[in-house]
Amino acid sequence: MKKFVVGNFKMNTTPSQFSSYLDEFLPRIKDCKTNIIFCLPATHFHVASLRLSATNIKFGAQNISSEKCGACTGEISNEMVKDCGADYTLIGHSETRRKFKETPESINQKIIRALEVNLKVILCIGETKYERTTKKTKLSLKRQLDTALKGLYENELRNIMIAYEPIWAIGTGKTPTPKEIEDTVKDIKDIITDNFTVRAAEKMNVLYGGSITESNCSQFSKIKGVSGLLVGGACLNAKSFANICK
Ligand code: 13P
Repeated sequence: MKKFVVGNFKMNTTPSQFSSYLDEFLPRIKDCKTNIIFCLPATHFHVASLRLSATNIKFGAQNISSEKCGACTGEISNEMVKDCGADYTLIGHSETRRKFKETPESINQKIIRALEVNLKVILCIGETKYERTTKKTKLSLKRQLDTALKGLYENELRNIMIAYEPIWAIGTGKTPTPKEIEDTVKDIKDIITDNFTVRAAEKMNVLYGGSITESNCSQFSKIKGVSGLLVGGACLNAKSFANICK
């Protein structure tokens, strides 16, 4: 099966820098069979839609509002993102959970908003270092997943991917071992089975994210149950990200 590689630009580059980045990136991935997705600041959507429409590369937002429209200064709605040509949105990244005080309920609401306009969701979940060391990872992920996916029908899960990103591995250069990731992905699939069905769990794409680099990416992408990678810092270098995608 074709793997996914998602590049999360976070709050980096200007639109013109992103355009120059694509000048370098696009020729490098010409024959690459990976499903590539850029999760971009909304300011970059016009460049993405112009430059990526003739490619197989998709783009998406890093967050959307839990509201449809109205008095939400500074926010961007599901319809706005979709209308710009985006196909995806990240939801519940640990940085938006923390900085924008997202709650499990608002994350659930954002997922519902995304699905309403056919935006595919990359739902980020992950444990703290304390939860990992006290063996509470599964419990923490279960709490996050139970509320995030509450009220959804099984057929809606086909538009959702889960990105397992341990909070302590984001931007730190530290990663879980491949065995720890494999076990955690199995835990995630067990939680999906409990909330939905075995079939739903089997079909669910689970990505790994956190301190992925050009040199460690292949060991993570080969892990049983892992359908791809969510890359932060290393996606900002066009050559490195192209190599990760390849
Ligand atoms: P890093 O790859 O920089 O650790 O970031 C991971 C991440 O947060 C992707 O969403």
